Amino acid sequence: MLLRPQSLLLLIAAVLFDPARIGRVKSHQESGPWHCDSDAGIRIQSVFRPGIITVDGKVEDWKDVSGSDFALLPALDPDADKAYNAGKMTLKVVHDGNEAFFMLQIDGNYAYTQGDSTKCASVALMLQIGENATYHRMGGCEEEQNTCTNKTCLGHEVDIMHFSLGNAIPGRLYGRNSIDNRQGYGGDRFGNLNDVYAWNPHCRYLDGLGPSGNDTTAQNDWQGSWWHSSLTDHSGFIKENSPYASEGQKGTYYFEFSRPLRTKDSLQQDAQFTIGKSNKVSAAFWYPEEGKSWHGSAHYSISCDWILLDFVPAGSSELSSIAQSSSWNFATSLSLFFSVVALCLSMIIGHRLSTMSRTANFIPMENL
Ligand SMILES: *[C@@H]1O[C@H](CO)[C@@H](O)[C@H](O)[C@H]1NC(C)=O
Ligand SMILES: *[C@@H]1O[C@H](CO)[C@@H](O)[C@H](O)[C@H]1NC(C)=O
Ligand SMILES: *[C@@H]1O[C@H](CO)[C@@H](O)[C@H](O)[C@H]1NC(C)=O
Repeated sequence: MLLRPQSLLLLIAAVLFDPARIGRVKSHQESGPWHCDSDAGIRIQSVFRPGIITVDGKVEDWKDVSGSDFALLPALDPDADKAYNAGKMTLKVVHDGNEAFFMLQIDGNYAYTQGDSTKCASVALMLQIGENATYHRMGGCEEEQNTCTNKTCLGHEVDIMHFSLGNAIPGRLYGRNSIDNRQGYGGDRFGNLNDVYAWNPHCRYLDGLGPSGNDTTAQNDWQGSWWHSSLTDHSGFIKENSPYASEGQKGTYYFEFSRPLRTKDSLQQDAQFTIGKSNKVSAAFWYPEEGKSWHGSAHYSISCDWILLDFVPAGSSELSSIAQSSSWNFATSLSLFFSVVALCLSMIIGHRLSTMSRTANFIPMENL
């Protein structure tokens, strides 16, 4: 009787600890053309978890959401020997039926120079829009800067959210705001949390702007916030508190973003999310290593190809919701289960032993 739940748990354990579920990337740069050996098994799941995430840069509210860890390799030369050496990036995604929430967590000593984003950390998410948009070369349109247009690069559109620190106060909300959205473009004059689209690295524009004219129906659809574990949480930072913590403190960066699943885009400048379907995504990180300014192309990426992001419907299969609960919860219930089994076993054995010993004592006594 005990075997049944046990074998179920073993099955769940086998699914949970399947190496294909753990994000990892093996890649190397071959001399010559671009080469990428990405692990095709990587999938990120955005599960339905309404009402748990507050976009404030702090991540305690994510503790029961499972995520994927990725080594960060140079985006232009994905060689494992050149990986970002301070740690991995953890990526978690949930949705509440209306909005998608993203959390990016990266170990890194605190670096902040007010007004100079190249001396601060920075992150971006990139999503496929056009069916022919490749991860490599941001959509991979073959046109040059002066020839790319929404016609010549049709099908190569990628959606980018780029958050550059330097003006954004930790814990405050940036991105979508009424002043920039009234002008109909994807910029954010307050915090540099921009909604961008691209056809290749040289043809990148804020939503709404473009080589063949501007279209004021565009919007910045993202919001986000950041935090670092070395910051002291009090009632709220203001710009005068900059740089908010002392330089070089060991810790972890946290970035949180939200975006509606669907946007009002009609120009192929936003990826659209559908519950029950998947998107292709990647994430990037810029960091002023040894205090040196970063430059645009010198960034790390979680993979050298797209990663699938599944938007899981509410109440989808039991196993996937079990697999999505945090491994800590799983480990806890597993150990609880085994302690109950052990307790039952010890009670049974104890009872048998005591009956046996009573019998063992009793029989010789009777035999005497
Ligand atoms: C994508 O590429 C295929 C094959 O080259 C082509 O048939 C298709 O029309 C392209 N899609 C778009 C949206 O351009
Ligand atoms: C390209 O962009 C221009 C300016 O925004 C717009 O008028 C035109 O309809 C677009 N063409 C396509 C094919 O999307
Ligand atoms: C589009 O907007 C940008 C930024 O506001 C501006 O620099 C550019 O001249 C505009 N382009 C056209 C064709 O109006």
